[in-house]
Amino acid sequence: MAQIFSRSADTWLRLGLLVLFVGLTGGLLVALALDRSDYRTGRNWVVEQPLPFSHAHHVGELKIDCRYCHSSVESSAMASLPPTETCMTCHSQIWKNADLLEPLRKSLRESQPLHWQRVVELPDYVYFHHGVHVNAGVGCSECHGAVDRMQLMFKAEPLSMGQCLACHRDPAPHLRPAGQVTRLQWHTDQDRRALGEQLMKDRRIDPRGLSDCGICHR
Ligand code: HEC
Ligand code: HEC
Ligand code: HEC
Ligand code: HEC
Ligand code: HEC
Repeated sequence: MAQIFSRSADTWLRLGLLVLFVGLTGGLLVALALDRSDYRTGRNWVVEQPLPFSHAHHVGELKIDCRYCHSSVESSAMASLPPTETCMTCHSQIWKNADLLEPLRKSLRESQPLHWQRVVELPDYVYFHHGVHVNAGVGCSECHGAVDRMQLMFKAEPLSMGQCLACHRDPAPHLRPAGQVTRLQWHTDQDRRALGEQLMKDRRIDPRGLSDCGICHR
């Protein structure tokens, strides 16, 4: 039988199929990589705010405790963001005429809260509770990173299901003594696991059941 396609057409067809195959797998790999990337999880992204509030300055240098501004973090599900009045306890005296702080003064004049943009947020179908973690002795830095060095706030940890579960399966090495939760640079020379296991006993924390779907998806 006579050849319908020339030899060179056959080569072109093979080449075409190869390009298509490489293109498809390449595209799939890129899509998979993007899905896990900081772009999708929002990690390390700085969000624009009504004014450039610096945790590095207020926490790192001035040593203001987290609870002064995030006042419900020990008792509630939400940590809460500070109202303008909290800032004004200082800024009605310090830097009171600075242009940078005009949005703050305007907010007070007009009794309109500042619209801080959220940086760390879970999807609606996940249940989280700050108070439970803080009282169990889980440091803020476990989930929010070195906040005291951040000029502008960013999401330092992925806070993915995998990260939640890694700790829920074995919380001991992550726990701290009472009073050390908001001290971001806390460290100890004691063995973290032995210390954590003792703390778990004292606080009656039972890791069995902490990985059940219904704990976080209610
Ligand atoms: C306990 C006192 C205190 C509180 C509360 C406070 N600040 Fe400040 N803030 C300061 C001091 C002190 C400075 C530095 C002034 C200087 O550098 O001379 C400052 C500086 C600033 C600056 C200038 C940029 C910088 O970081 O150097 C901004 C913006 C600012 N504060 C915003 C806020 C906002 C918003 C709040 C409320 C969420 C707030 N501050 C609460 C004490 C305070
Ligand atoms: C002087 C007040 C003040 C203190 C002290 C403070 N914060 Fe904040 N924090 C704010 C303000 C205002 C915002 C909102 C603006 C922003 O995201 O930068 C914020 C935002 C945050 C966010 C992002 C929340 C979100 O989803 O948008 C985290 C996380 C956070 N703070 C953690 C901490 C931790 C941890 C400490 C203690 C080590 C701390 N903060 C101390 C005022 C404060
Ligand atoms: C076990 C992880 C974990 C720990 C520990 C933790 N946070 Fe959070 N934080 C989160 C998650 C997750 C969110 C987002 C919650 C949501 O969207 O429902 C969040 C949100 C926030 C917010 C945004 C506003 C709000 O009301 O929720 C602030 C502020 C905050 N955290 C501060 C703190 C401070 C201060 C501490 C330590 C005292 C702390 N967090 C400890 C995981 C943690
Ligand atoms: C570094 C450790 C750690 C991380 C990370 C962590 N948790 Fe937990 N979580 C704990 C511990 C410890 C407890 C148990 C506290 C107790 O039993 O007193 C707990 C308990 C809980 C509870 C039970 C609250 C209740 O009402 O009984 C929920 C819900 C929860 N965590 C959700 C989350 C979610 C969602 C994430 C991820 C965004 C997360 N946790 C990340 C340590 C952690
Ligand atoms: C300790 C808390 C925790 C537990 C326990 C948990 N999840 Fe999740 N889950 C999360 C968080 C946080 C997210 C959101 C992840 C994100 O936004 O990247 C999530 C997301 C999901 C999603 C959405 C798809 C995805 O991957 O983004 C599904 C489906 C899911 N979980 C199923 C389960 C099942 C099934 C179980 C029980 C085997 C379970 N989860 C147990 C915290 C938890």
